Amino acid sequence: MKKIFGKGLIVLAAALLVGWIIALYGCGGGAGPLRVAAPTPGVPGLTAEFESLLPEGQRGATFIGSEACADCHGGRQGQPEPVYVAWRRTKHAEKGVGCEQCHGPGSRHRENPSGQNILTFPKIVSSVVCGQCHGPIYQDWLASKHDQIIRTPSELAITNPAVYGRTCLQCHSGLFRIQVGERGVNLATLSTERIVELANQTLDAAPHAATCATCHDPHRNTGNLSDDGKEVQLRHLVFNTDLSAIDPGSPVTEHTNFNHICGQCHNGRGADPSDATLTRATARPNMHDSNQFNMLMGIGGVEGTGPVIRNTAHAQIPGQCSTCHMPRSRHTMTASYDISCTPCHTPADAAARTATVKAEVETALYALRRRMEQWAQATFGDNALWDYTALLAQEGKTPPDQAQVPIQVKRARHNYYFVLRDRCFGPHNAPYIRHLIRVANENLDAINVPRVNPWALASRVSRSEIRSLLERDRRRALSADH
Ligand code: HEC
Ligand code: HEC
Ligand code: HEC
Ligand code: HEC
Ligand code: HEC
Ligand code: HEC
Ligand code: HEC
Ligand code: HEC
Repeated sequence: MKKIFGKGLIVLAAALLVGWIIALYGCGGGAGPLRVAAPTPGVPGLTAEFESLLPEGQRGATFIGSEACADCHGGRQGQPEPVYVAWRRTKHAEKGVGCEQCHGPGSRHRENPSGQNILTFPKIVSSVVCGQCHGPIYQDWLASKHDQIIRTPSELAITNPAVYGRTCLQCHSGLFRIQVGERGVNLATLSTERIVELANQTLDAAPHAATCATCHDPHRNTGNLSDDGKEVQLRHLVFNTDLSAIDPGSPVTEHTNFNHICGQCHNGRGADPSDATLTRATARPNMHDSNQFNMLMGIGGVEGTGPVIRNTAHAQIPGQCSTCHMPRSRHTMTASYDISCTPCHTPADAAARTATVKAEVETALYALRRRMEQWAQATFGDNALWDYTALLAQEGKTPPDQAQVPIQVKRARHNYYFVLRDRCFGPHNAPYIRHLIRVANENLDAINVPRVNPWALASRVSRSEIRSLLERDRRRALSADH
């Protein structure tokens, strides 16, 4: 272990100097100062964590410098690999952050090139690699849900790779996304053995929805700038309003390579409001919990025949999701009223409007649900039977023949779940949400279901009861989602 710090000390001393200079002048954006890896053996913290990632074959290796890597990975001497060339143009190269600061010392690898003596997949995708220096952002990321993993998708992919490997992992494994989605690997040709391997690696080595390297290309300037116009090596755009790419029927709907840094995963997963689909596919709602991009743009709900306000100023915010959810590049992904909403709203105005619209939307959803219950009670003598069949089956109920459920109810329940599953209850796109709830209610009017006054209901049922009922529906829908 100790030898790691042999010759490399010089390289690292230089890096440390850079680090001090950076610390002195306070860089790293609004997310706090950078901390450059400490070169002293035994120093606790992120560096020790990084060392623990290194493979056995790399123990005892010393640093050889980025120029040495270029001999084989530099596009020099007829080598095709352009990693070194791309890296030269990055801020990292400019600041002296070299190959070995992410891949570990390379002397043994140079002697006998192999994936066994250099930090590579799967552990290279760990955020620990970047956290050595980007401490504050790393801490933010740890606090976000992107640090976590939902195990079901990987477990399903292991037991049934042919079906679930190709659908779930693109969005539920940061590792899979880097190695498959970002490399343009054709999912249809991916072997089931490879899928199982990647799913196992996800659970064991990199159990995260998205790591730094999922969103950032570690080697290249990409030209996909941040909302304030900086090159931050993003793999995809922060702003994209191309609706055709998420239109129902488009090949990118299910497991998408949509060119949007958040919309690649936070999209409707095939949300399709057409009568044909609503009539045919009645087991479960045909959108996932991830329909935030669709909601922001206003696409994927049953819209009726009249005019519709598809989206508003919020869809046109320069960084879209990142402006609201990553104020000053904060990587917790929590929306902030203080910084994100200016200059359009004052913080107080944004908070007040959001509170108002949330109360309105939650109550309206509850009232819509009550109407569907009344219809089911009158039609089948059981108020639960308005719902999708797989959700009813979960409750031990026998679903009615779906031919007996009129299209109006099918449209209403699609919009109910579309709004519920986006989970913002308003701020993403209040006009579109209001429109979808109105259309749902008009459909129920057309089959003479009595109106329910949301505000009269609200005076009888508490907000927390309403919320827990809605949350229960969302959970049920999720567990039917496979
Ligand atoms: C879910 C995608 C995502 C993940 C995961 C992610 N980033 Fe980012 N990162 C972004 C986006 C988007 C921006 C640009 C934010 C903006 O426009 O304000 C950004 C900006 C940055 C910046 C520039 C900050 C500045 O001051 O301008 C750094 C540095 C950075 N990220 C490092 C990291 C590190 C380190 C990790 C892992 C701990 C990480 N990122 C994980 C999406 C991500
Ligand atoms: C003497 C030539 C040579 C030098 C010098 C060299 N590499 Fe390699 N490297 C290779 C070869 C060949 C492979 C492929 C090995 C294999 O597939 O088993 C490889 C593989 C890798 C991999 C794994 C790629 C994968 O597919 O998983 C990484 C990461 C890597 N090198 C990084 C580096 C870094 C960083 C340096 C400098 C410290 C470096 N290499 C120096 C020849 C070299
Ligand atoms: C900022 C950290 C960082 C730096 C600096 C860095 N890498 Fe990487 N490298 C990564 C990460 C993370 C991955 C895995 C993600 C990916 O492939 O995009 C990776 C992947 C690789 C791979 C495997 C790619 C493949 O196609 O199989 C090679 C080879 C490689 N790096 C070589 C280098 C060389 C050579 C340098 C220096 C010129 C370098 N890296 C600099 C973080 C870094
Ligand atoms: C050895 C320290 C070190 C490591 C490891 C490291 N970085 Fe950096 N990173 C820096 C420094 C230094 C800068 C330049 C900061 C500046 O000038 O504002 C930087 C800048 C950046 C930027 C902003 C680019 C810009 O133009 O401002 C991004 C994005 C980034 N790093 C992402 C990553 C990611 C992703 C990883 C892991 C794959 C990583 N870094 C690993 C030290 C490091
Ligand atoms: C298009 C990308 C995408 C695909 C494909 C996808 N998911 Fe998701 N899923 C997400 C996102 C994004 C979230 C988080 C949404 C949120 O928090 O609102 C999520 C949330 C979940 C949750 C809820 C976690 C919780 O506790 O709230 C479960 C469970 C889940 N997905 C399972 C699956 C399974 C199983 C599959 C494959 C059949 C799958 N997902 C396919 C993007 C996707
Ligand atoms: C590689 C796929 C992927 C990308 C890219 C991605 N996310 Fe996520 N995101 C997920 C998954 C999966 C979850 C749910 C994780 C969990 O619940 O454990 C999630 C969770 C979230 C949550 C937390 C939801 C909650 O339940 O509290 C927010 C907010 C979020 N993402 C915003 C963003 C933003 C903003 C971006 C773009 C900068 C982004 N995500 C990019 C997959 C992704
Ligand atoms: C106009 C600002 C704004 C934009 C743009 C925006 N969001 Fe949100 N988002 C919010 C607010 C506000 C909430 C509610 C947060 C709360 O309840 O505290 C929210 C809620 C969420 C949630 C539910 C979980 C949570 O954190 O409460 C997710 C997931 C999410 N947004 C993801 C996204 C994604 C992905 C995008 C881009 C497609 C996006 N948002 C665009 C402001 C925005
Ligand atoms: C680029 C400007 C811009 C930004 C940034 C922005 N908004 Fe808005 N927002 C608007 C406009 C324009 C309207 C609609 C006009 C109106 O109602 O006055 C609006 C309306 C709203 C509404 C009312 C919806 C309704 O119809 O009841 C809420 C809630 C809201 N914004 C919340 C937020 C939150 C929270 C943030 C930050 C996280 C935010 N906005 C960021 C421009 C913006």
